[in-house]
Amino acid sequence: MTTTPATAIILGTGLGRLTDEIDIIQTIPYTEIPNFPQSTVEGHRGALIFGKLGGKDVLAMQGRFHYYEGYAMKEVTFAVRVMYELGIKTLFVSNASGGTNPAFSVGDLMIITDHINFFPENPLRGKNFPTGPRFPDMHEVYDKELIRMADEIAQEKGIKVQHGVYLGTQGPTFETPAEYRMFARLGADAVGMSTVPEVIVAHHCGMKVFGISVITDLGGFDNPVEVSHEEVQRAANEVQPKMTEIMREIIRRS
Ligand code: HPA
Repeated sequence: MTTTPATAIILGTGLGRLTDEIDIIQTIPYTEIPNFPQSTVEGHRGALIFGKLGGKDVLAMQGRFHYYEGYAMKEVTFAVRVMYELGIKTLFVSNASGGTNPAFSVGDLMIITDHINFFPENPLRGKNFPTGPRFPDMHEVYDKELIRMADEIAQEKGIKVQHGVYLGTQGPTFETPAEYRMFARLGADAVGMSTVPEVIVAHHCGMKVFGISVITDLGGFDNPVEVSHEEVQRAANEVQPKMTEIMREIIRRS
């Protein structure tokens, strides 16, 4: 059976089980793909999965590359370039994040409406790739129609969703209480260590993007709380069926 996906999915920490919903046609471990970086973090398996989800051909990237692992931005975003070459037109991304919006709770799903690039580097730095302009417009990076569909699906299925701005920072430290407060003041609703580089490159490649973030912990604000990678994985794991349902249904309807 052949597969020619136009849709790709990048799954975040504790959210890799969406691939259980995919009728897998072929799995290609990153180790077998020339020049592909390798995943190093616990909770991130490394493979490209080709199959069917919601009746559509999809390509899922199970495990992503983080800047904090020491990869260059070119490596962090390499897979998105491969996706472009494979004909991917729409990218779905998920991640775990810390809520900086005091109205959020642990376990909330946040549809990403916009982002703040707080990484020390832009992935498009350097010679411009001909997939897009030297100075890309960024006024609508997260596709409004896909957001509208997600809202509709969430409402139909009784799933509570938040909307918000995701701030991507390099990590690997979680934030100090002062940093959480700073990010909230800068306009972030959630902070995490991924997504922004891949989304910038996807946008430059002309892909539509839909992003969803699972709030796995809260900044603590006036009452600092401890955060750990294990807790982030556990919280993300609990919410992932809801995230899966929304993504599967958008893919089915679009
Ligand atoms: N900060 C940064 N990254 C994260 C967090 C956080 O609080 N939670 C999950 N990923």
